[in-house]
Amino acid sequence: MFSRLSVTTKFNLISSLLLMALFVAMAYGSYRREQTLILKSAIDHARSIAHQIIETRDYLSRSVTREPEQNENLIPQVAASRIAQQLTRGSGYYVRQISLRYRNPDNRPDSFEAAQLTHFRDATAVETWQVTQEKGRKSLRYLLPMMADTSCLTCHGSFETAPRFVQERFPVGHFSYGYKLGEVIGAISVSVPMENLYRQIGANLKGDILSGGFVLLVFIAVSGWLIRRSILIPVKTVAASIAEVSRSGNFSERLEKKGQDEIGELIGSFNELMAELDRRTVQRVESEDRYRNFIEIAQSPIVTFMADGKIVISNKKAENLFGLTKQELLGQSIFEFMEKGDELQSAVTAYFSAGSSELIGTTTRQKVRDVCGRLFNVEMVISVSQSDQNPMFSAILRAVEK
Ligand code: HEC
Repeated sequence: MFSRLSVTTKFNLISSLLLMALFVAMAYGSYRREQTLILKSAIDHARSIAHQIIETRDYLSRSVTREPEQNENLIPQVAASRIAQQLTRGSGYYVRQISLRYRNPDNRPDSFEAAQLTHFRDATAVETWQVTQEKGRKSLRYLLPMMADTSCLTCHGSFETAPRFVQERFPVGHFSYGYKLGEVIGAISVSVPMENLYRQIGANLKGDILSGGFVLLVFIAVSGWLIRRSILIPVKTVAASIAEVSRSGNFSERLEKKGQDEIGELIGSFNELMAELDRRTVQRVESEDRYRNFIEIAQSPIVTFMADGKIVISNKKAENLFGLTKQELLGQSIFEFMEKGDELQSAVTAYFSAGSSELIGTTTRQKVRDVCGRLFNVEMVISVSQSDQNPMFSAILRAVEK
């Protein structure tokens, strides 16, 4: 199946398969790299927001000490969260501070956050993140745990030591009291929408595939054209010339050599071969002419015949002997003119199988028959010439009286 395709098709097929594989691998590789990159940048972003909240909170708790009693919005946690929320408004991000033992029901963790908080409580992790899918939308969930330090315990320690405004809002026994130093109070939870980013790199991938596909097509078209022009067409021309030469036997054909490359060499060799064949043909024609002239002036009848007995050259004396014109004689079988034609025939066969034969090279007495059926006694000697692939036999006859 494959071997029957043309070289251009084969080349295009193989190169496009290879390029396609390379190109898909590259596109996929860059897609994966982009995916890792956007994830990493989303994590960095979430982490920086979380740390920003902590920095803000620490700054506020250092400088804002009594004001929260009058204005709850100045509680460092609350203020820091609000600032972060303001900063990320409209971006699809969300920022919260959550706790398993929350004071504000707005800070109740969702199931994902609750799981992470339990995880923080049981194992000491620095941060966690995960890409989740909710209602078909992918987002990065990032959580940074917050441990209770001494400053936190003022309001999150025991009810008795808590400021009055805290005591007023959260009665004794509320589960938001009773933290110990180093215990996880809650976490900053940041959610970064990934849908658009993923869509963007999906679009990048599509763009890569389209542009790569276009480059691939151009490459195949150009290389196919180049191969056709510089290899296939010249090779076809040489092949057609060879076919033409073998059909017509005309060795004068020469091809135009266009370059010094392998194709140029092929054309050069073709031309040399043609020149050599041409020279040999001329030589053969000349030597045949010489031979014809020579036997024409000979005093004895001479016929030259092929292995199958077919007469190819004859002289005037032979034509007289058989009583035929040259046209009539040429093409006839020599065996028909001999009384013991079959003996000569087997001698020729023997010559081929054994390399020699008694009848060939020695003078023998034979009877030949002319066109009217009259028999003549002759002395005959046969010589073989093997200049060509086909040996030719020349029989020299001499009429004798008896
Ligand atoms: C001045 C008192 C005070 C101090 C100090 C304080 N908190 Fe709070 N914290 C509160 C109050 C009041 C709330 C509830 C705010 C609200 O209504 O949204 C709260 C809420 C939180 C929440 C949100 C969950 C919830 O319970 O609603 C977290 C988490 C938190 N605090 C952690 C801390 C950490 C950690 C520290 C120490 C670095 C700390 N807090 C220090 C008073 C305080």
